[in-house]
Amino acid sequence: MNSSCIEKIPATLIPGDGIGPEVVEATVRVLDALGSPFEWDIQPAGMAGVKALGDPLPAVTIESIRQRKLALKGPLTTPVGEGFRSSNVRLREAFELFGNVRPAKSLVPGRYEDIDLVLIRENLAGFYVANEYYIQVGNDPRAVAVSSGMNTREGSERIARFAFEYAIKNGRKKITVVHKANILKALTGLFLEAARDVAKEYEGRVEMDDMIVDACAMQLVLNPWRFDMLLCTNLFGDILSDQLAGLVGGLGMAPGSNFGNDAAIFEAVHGSAPDIAGKGVANPISLMLAAAMMLAHVNLVEEAERLRVAIDQTLNIDGVQTRDLKGQASTLEFADAVCARLRT
Ligand code: NAI
Ligand code: MG
Repeated sequence: MNSSCIEKIPATLIPGDGIGPEVVEATVRVLDALGSPFEWDIQPAGMAGVKALGDPLPAVTIESIRQRKLALKGPLTTPVGEGFRSSNVRLREAFELFGNVRPAKSLVPGRYEDIDLVLIRENLAGFYVANEYYIQVGNDPRAVAVSSGMNTREGSERIARFAFEYAIKNGRKKITVVHKANILKALTGLFLEAARDVAKEYEGRVEMDDMIVDACAMQLVLNPWRFDMLLCTNLFGDILSDQLAGLVGGLGMAPGSNFGNDAAIFEAVHGSAPDIAGKGVANPISLMLAAAMMLAHVNLVEEAERLRVAIDQTLNIDGVQTRDLKGQASTLEFADAVCARLRT
C-alpha cells in the first residue's frame, strides 16, 4: 500500500492530563508510521484546559471538534467531590455522543484467555445526569445527599438500536441487557423494556437476553465466555467496562469510542493515572486501539487492521511489553517497536 496516497482527514487531538500526553505521543507516532492519515488540530481540555485557557472545556476545543466531527482524546482529570464537572461528560453532552463502544479482546495470555466481548454503554443519561443536592438537617447543611437518574424511552431505544446494528455489522450473535430492574424498576426497567421492544425488530438475526447487574458482575468473573455483547445503562457500563479491561490485562488494553449524530470521539477507557504520570511507563495500547477504531470509522479499514496486527506482533512475537504487562518497555519504546513492525 502506498500510504502517501491517503488524503489527510482533519481531526482534533486532545493530549489531556496525566499520562494523556505520553500515550497520545506514542499513538501519534504509530499513526505517523501508517502514513499520517489525520491532520491534527491540537487543543487542550481537562486540567490542561484550565492551565492553558482557564477552562476545563475551552470553547476553541469544542469548536475544533464541531468543525471536524472527529477527535482522538487523552484522559481528562476530574476532581473528586468538589470542583468542576467532568469535561468528558460535558463533551458527550455537547456532541450528543449517546453510544459508547468498549471492546475487550485478549491480546496477551493472562488470567483469562480468548476473551472477545463488546460492551455498549448508554452515554448520556442514567445516573450520569447527576442531578444532585444536599438537604440541611439542623446545623449540618450536607446532612443528606440526594441524586437522581433519568432514562428516556427514546434514548433507551436509540442505544438499543445502536447495539443491535453494531451486532449485525460486526457479526455478533447475542446481546445481554444489564439492568437492576428489580430495584430501580422505573430507571432501569424502562431501559430493559425499550431494549426488549427493539429486539423484536432483530428477531432471528441477533439474540437478546438480560441479567441483573450484580449477577452479571459475578458471571463476568466465573464465565465471561458466555457473553458476546453487553448493553448497559450509563453507570453500570462505566463500572463493567473497567471489569472487562481487567479480563484482558488491565486498563492499558481497553479502547473506547463515543458516537453521536454530530461527532465521534475516540479514547482509552482508562483515566489520567496520576500515580504513574510523567514516568514514561504507561501502556499506550488502549489509545492505540482506540486509534484503530478511529481509522475503521473513517473507512481506513486496512490501516486499522495493520495497526492491530502490529500491536499483536509487537506483544507476542517481539515480546515487547510495558510494565503493567510485566514487561520492561517504556511507553515510547513500545510505540517505536510497533512502528518498526508497521514499516516491515
Ligand atoms: P485511572 O484509569 O486513571 O487509573 C486506575 C489504575 O490503572 C491506576 O493504578 C493506573 O496507574 C492504572 N492505569 C490506567 N491506565 C493505565 C495505562 N495506560 N497503563 C498502565 N496503567 C494504567 O483511574 P483513576 O485513578 O480512578 O482516575 C484518575 C483520573 O482520571 C480521575 O481524575 C478521573 O476522573 C479521570 N478519568 C478520566 C477518564 C477519561 O478521560 N475518559 C476515564 C476515567 C477516569
Ligand atoms: Mg470509567
